[in-house]
Amino acid sequence: MPKSTPGLSEVIRDVPKAELHIHVEGSLEPEMMFDLARRNGVALPYRSADEVRRAYSFANLQEFLDLYYQGMAMLRTEEDFFALADAYLRRAAADGVVHVEMFFDPQAHTGRGVPLGTLMDGLERAIVRSRERGVSVSLILCFLRHLTEREAFETLEHAEPYLDRLLGVGLDSSEMGNPPSKFARVFDDARDLGLRLVAHAGEEGPPEYVWEALDILGVERIDHGNRALEDDALVARLRDDRIPLTVCPLSNLALRVVDDLAAHPIRRMLDLGLVATVNLDDPAYFGGYINENFRRVAEGVDLSSAEIETLARNSFDASFAAPAPLRP
Ligand code: ADE
Ligand code: ZN
Repeated sequence: MPKSTPGLSEVIRDVPKAELHIHVEGSLEPEMMFDLARRNGVALPYRSADEVRRAYSFANLQEFLDLYYQGMAMLRTEEDFFALADAYLRRAAADGVVHVEMFFDPQAHTGRGVPLGTLMDGLERAIVRSRERGVSVSLILCFLRHLTEREAFETLEHAEPYLDRLLGVGLDSSEMGNPPSKFARVFDDARDLGLRLVAHAGEEGPPEYVWEALDILGVERIDHGNRALEDDALVARLRDDRIPLTVCPLSNLALRVVDDLAAHPIRRMLDLGLVATVNLDDPAYFGGYINENFRRVAEGVDLSSAEIETLARNSFDASFAAPAPLRP
C-alpha cells in the first residue's frame, strides 16, 4: 500500500524545528500568573485567568509591553523562573521542537529587586531538565532598549560571572525612538566577550534600524525584520549575506504589524530568497505556540509542504548551535 500524503498539519507537527525567537517571560500563561501571585502574596488587578485573557487586545507594541512587564512582575523566586521555563520547554518538546535559543529580559527583574542569580539559577535548572529530555537550549540575554546605554553596560557587567551559561545578547522592548546605534558600544563589548549578537529591528521601526543593527551592532540575525522589505538594497544585503530573519506571525497580527495573515510578509520573504524562520515571540499573549504559528500563517499565505519544510530547515541554518537533525 502506498503511504498516504501527510496533510499540512501533520507536516508541521512532525518536522523537527528550532525556536530562535521566544521571550521566556512571554510564555507566562494567565493560570501560572495567578498561581505565582497567590504563592508570592501579590495582588493582581484581575479576578480570573479569563479576565486576563480578555485584556489581551493591543493597538501596538507598547500596549503589549505594558502588560508584559506587569505580568512578569509575579516572578520572584528561583522556583518561579524554573516553573516558567520548564512549562514552556515541555510544551516545545511536545510540539516537535529539538533546539531552543531562548531570550530573557534580566533588567525587567533586577530593576524590581530580583537578584540576577535567582533567575539564572531557575532558568538553568529548567534548561538542564530540557536537555535530559533531548531538547537543547541556550540563553540569549536581551537588553531593554528603552533603558540607557549605561544600564545595559551594568547588566553586561553583572552577567559576566554567568558567561558560560550565555550564548549571546539581543535587543528588545520599545523600538521606535531607540535605534540600535544607541547600544553600539555595549554590543562591541559583548562581542569581545565571545557572545553571539542578535537584535529586534524592523518590527515597528524603519529599515534604517535594520541597517544599523547589521552595520553598527554587527548582528548575525534580525529578530522580526518585517519592514526590511521596504528597502530593496536592504533585501539584497539580507539575501546575499544570508542573514536570517526570525519572523513571528501571530505576534505580528496581535500587535497590528500586519492587518491580516493573508498579507503576511513571510510569503514575499520566501519568494525573495530570504532566510525566514517561524517563531513565537510571546506565545501566552499572542494566542499560540510554534505549530499554531505555522498553521495560521500557512493558511494565510498558502504555504506548501515544501515551503514549511524550508522554513523549518531555515531555523537550523539560522541557529547558532544546532545542525538540522537527519530525517529518515
Ligand atoms: N519583548 C517581548 N516581545 C517583544 C516584541 N515583540 N518586540 C520587542 N520587545 C519584545
Ligand atoms: Zn521578540
